[in-house]
Amino acid sequence: MNTVIVGLQWGDEGKGKVVDLLTPHFKYVVRFQGGNNAGHTLVVNDETFGLHLIPSGILHDTVCCMIGNGVVVDPAVLLEEMQGLNRAGYTVTTERLQISSNAHVIWPFHRTLDVAREAARGKNKIGTTGRGIGPTYEDKVARRGMRMAEFVNTQQRQAKLQSMIVEKSPIYKYVKMNVPSFDAMEAWASPLAERLRPYVCDTIDNLHTAIQEQEPILFEGAQGTFLDIDHGTYPFVTSSNTVSGAACIGTGVGPTHITHVIGIVKAYLTRVGSGPFKTEIHGEDAERLRTLGGEFGVTTGRARRCGWLDIPLLKRACMLNGVTDICLTKLDILSHYKEIPLCTRYENDVPHYEIMQGWNEDIQHCRDFDSLPAACQEYILRIEELSGVSIGLIGVGPKRSESIIRTDTFRMS
Ligand code: IMP
Repeated sequence: MNTVIVGLQWGDEGKGKVVDLLTPHFKYVVRFQGGNNAGHTLVVNDETFGLHLIPSGILHDTVCCMIGNGVVVDPAVLLEEMQGLNRAGYTVTTERLQISSNAHVIWPFHRTLDVAREAARGKNKIGTTGRGIGPTYEDKVARRGMRMAEFVNTQQRQAKLQSMIVEKSPIYKYVKMNVPSFDAMEAWASPLAERLRPYVCDTIDNLHTAIQEQEPILFEGAQGTFLDIDHGTYPFVTSSNTVSGAACIGTGVGPTHITHVIGIVKAYLTRVGSGPFKTEIHGEDAERLRTLGGEFGVTTGRARRCGWLDIPLLKRACMLNGVTDICLTKLDILSHYKEIPLCTRYENDVPHYEIMQGWNEDIQHCRDFDSLPAACQEYILRIEELSGVSIGLIGVGPKRSESIIRTDTFRMS
């Protein structure tokens, strides 16, 4: 039972909670793309956690978490998260966290370049998280990036760092900034490399051993389908492939080993950063939805743009990911509405809405489909009908327990 979890919108669909809910059924939880541009908020035992890089499965002590080769790693952020978890009583041992030796390293100069490039774009800015994700993937594809294996090897790190600084110098001069000094970068890197070295290994070998031993693996996606570098709303996208296929490339596991693809859909739609958003709402309406849903970025704190669920977009996402099961999150947020617009198609590129009846009552306590108000059931069934994929899990509140399980995929028995 090897399952990929991906967001079917522009990220922030509530993947963290679903991963956390399903994790007890898996032995391995693996991140396969992105970096600390992602962020999950988790509520466990009434404690709130923000994780950006380490898979949220780390909160379960029977699980081994991996950061796959497709991820870009900021070593300082990673270490900070590990220390935060240790302080909270979740011990991060090398049995519990493994970092692929092939994952690429985000350096401070990648971050600086990310921010400088955004500033240079002016009104055409993408709205990146400023975490150096794009410049690091650029270096990877240009075959001049640094992998974790090199980072933790002092000689290799220093040689590669020299060449990276030489390569970056003209760009720094062009944006009128000081070229990063080798000594400053090395002073930053050296203690981090010492601390992270024990965690860096051939995760691919370990994953294949797990597959042979039939240990179930959960592949945890970050961002969302329409932020995918190929399939998203280019150029307003992130720099990695976010669709389910990337789970194979970003971990070194072949597609024949994937059995399920779970797509996470929020009951409405949000987006951070620039780019098209057909069903976006504005003004007081957007403010209301944003406040009700707590739609502010975990990574950057930015207010998310808000809008109504877009079925054509959802259908395309199901197609791109080969979704086998949908998980509908944050349905409780819509309990405050008398009517809920649902975009079922576009007419000349303009959204056409079906107005669904709201239910106007609290659903947070509901634990099975039949106990949901009739209008709420209608909303779910209509999404299911229009998307053509069954909705197996419904989120009715932020806690793990505030969920309705409808299909065996989510029972995992
Ligand atoms: P980058 O990934 O920092 O380069 O940002 C590129 C675009 O992806 C921007 O619009 C970001 O707001 C968006 N983005 C990146 N990561 C996330 C995420 O985890 N959730 C939502 N949006 C994201």
